[in-house]
Amino acid sequence: MAGLRTLLALLVVAVVAVAGCGNTGGGSSSGGGGKKIALLLPESKTARYEAKDRPLFQDKVKALCSDCQVLYSNANQDSAAQQSQAEAALTNGAAVLVLDAVDGAAAAGIAQKAKAQNVPVISYDRLILNSAAVNYYISFDNVAVGKLQGTALLQALTGKTSPSIVMINGDPADNNAKLFKQGAHSVLDGKVTVAKEYDTPNWSGDQAQNEMQQALTALANKVDGVYAANDTTGGAAIAAMKSAGVRPLPPTTGQDADLAAIQRILIGEQYMTVYKAIKPEAEGAAELAVDLALGKQVPSSMVNGKTNNGAADVPSILLTPQTVTKSTIGTTVIQDGYWTKEQLCTSQYADACKTAGIT
Ligand code: BGC
Repeated sequence: MAGLRTLLALLVVAVVAVAGCGNTGGGSSSGGGGKKIALLLPESKTARYEAKDRPLFQDKVKALCSDCQVLYSNANQDSAAQQSQAEAALTNGAAVLVLDAVDGAAAAGIAQKAKAQNVPVISYDRLILNSAAVNYYISFDNVAVGKLQGTALLQALTGKTSPSIVMINGDPADNNAKLFKQGAHSVLDGKVTVAKEYDTPNWSGDQAQNEMQQALTALANKVDGVYAANDTTGGAAIAAMKSAGVRPLPPTTGQDADLAAIQRILIGEQYMTVYKAIKPEAEGAAELAVDLALGKQVPSSMVNGKTNNGAADVPSILLTPQTVTKSTIGTTVIQDGYWTKEQLCTSQYADACKTAGIT
């Protein structure tokens, strides 16, 4: 009896260990036998990766190749961990790497290792820098993202004389953060005073909140607007302003159309976000990956540009980002099915939904 119980306990531990792999960032696989496709995502604090990118990618791979397997891992913003995860995927027989790099420069090492084993690499969302071993890049026009954020912020500041803003940029190791910052500066410079500006390592919300707190102290709470590079940092800046008693809250930007951000926009706490339709990005990457894994020709119609990464012009698929403010929630993220009215308009937000005409 005791022996049986021990055996059962061991079995439970084994099953839990196998099931838990995907959630611990250790890498897991789904699907049948056949070709293996590695999806390496950078972090899990930003909602999009586990809620959108991962399932959309996995479902599309399954639809295109029922016996392909997705080897999934998430690096939780640890570049060394991502390196090990990529090496593990290669050892495990991955036929293609779809890599969303924690650190664009460090990821060149991963691309090099893959190339040495004749494994093609797709640079997903964030560009892998200084490497000729990158086969495709699929992302959004990320300078345009920064321009949309800057333009919306200027719009919100119409009528303010000599407005001054705080800029909370993303992680400097992420090439996208550089592009968002560049796009934002290209429209804001000369029109506003940038009173304080920070780069936020790891896109950390905690760090962004500290940065905003420091800025508020230095500026005696006098801030007309906040440029935050994404919804995590935007939400953190808003939290810092709320706890410092800043009233009314100045317009704050974001990006990712996180559900929490759309709800903040609804109730007037956040001014805007940038909606990047993850479906065509994740599904496009899945199509590329399956073609490459099966040795098929990628249709040239998929590619709409080239991006120089410092070592090569990488054939690119670049998608178009979209601004979302309170008045366009219905015609963007709701209309596109990114969020349903039911997800958005929970009891706490029901009145705000009604006022915004989302019913
Ligand atoms: C992505 C954003 C995301 C950020 C933090 C960027 O590379 O494009 O969508 O918010 O990383 O993960």
